Amino acid sequence: MKEKWNERYANEAYAYGEQANEYLKQCLIQFPPGKVLFPAEGEGRNAVFAAQMGWEVSAFDISEEGQKKAMKLAKKKNVSINYQVGDFKNMNFQKGEFDAIALIYAHFPAAVKSAINKDLAEYLKVGGLIIFEAFGKNNLELKKQDPAIGGPDDIDMLFSMNELIADFPNFQIIQLQEVEVQLQEGLYHNGIGSVVRFVGRKES
Ligand SMILES: C[S@@+](CC[C@H](N)C(=O)[O-])C[C@H]1O[C@@H](n2cnc3c(N)ncnc32)[C@H](O)[C@@H]1O
Repeated sequence: MKEKWNERYANEAYAYGEQANEYLKQCLIQFPPGKVLFPAEGEGRNAVFAAQMGWEVSAFDISEEGQKKAMKLAKKKNVSINYQVGDFKNMNFQKGEFDAIALIYAHFPAAVKSAINKDLAEYLKVGGLIIFEAFGKNNLELKKQDPAIGGPDDIDMLFSMNELIADFPNFQIIQLQEVEVQLQEGLYHNGIGSVVRFVGRKES
């Protein structure tokens, strides 16, 4: 798994581009800056954008090559981010540490993805936000028609709205939808994809 990502990120070009994900941008600018965590942040496009917007940024990913590219992008944009290399289970953030957690195409293995969402919620303050965009289960059919859209081939790694409702039961839902969107993100997300978008506020 880690080898696949290191190989992808060893390329000079940014796999998902240097620009942050559009939904992340739209959502993040609506809230006052605080402390934000980016799990599975790859080459750092979203983390760097948040730092440019004045957020104090933590990020992690299993890929060392991802970290190198993220730090290079941060230097280019003249911002600082705290980016750790490792698996979620080896991270030790504090309960209630973050004002926001942004899960952008954080496609963890199917067997652990719900457990990770539930554990991540613990790191959020009451009143804190989850901002989420990732491929939905409907993306499988779209990917068959146009592989350039990318995303996992395992339906259990893809998301549904009901899974998010179950993973974040103590959240006020600000937005939740599965929609088809046009993506143009670097080398690997190009075309019409089906994505689940969620913004939720932790209530207790
Ligand atoms: C599709 S990429 C998304 C990268 C980034 N969030 C973005 O939107 O550009 C998925 C990322 O998940 C990371 N990943 C997969 N399993 C992981 C795990 N168990 N712990 C941390 N990161 C993981 C991969 O290394 C990869 O960078």
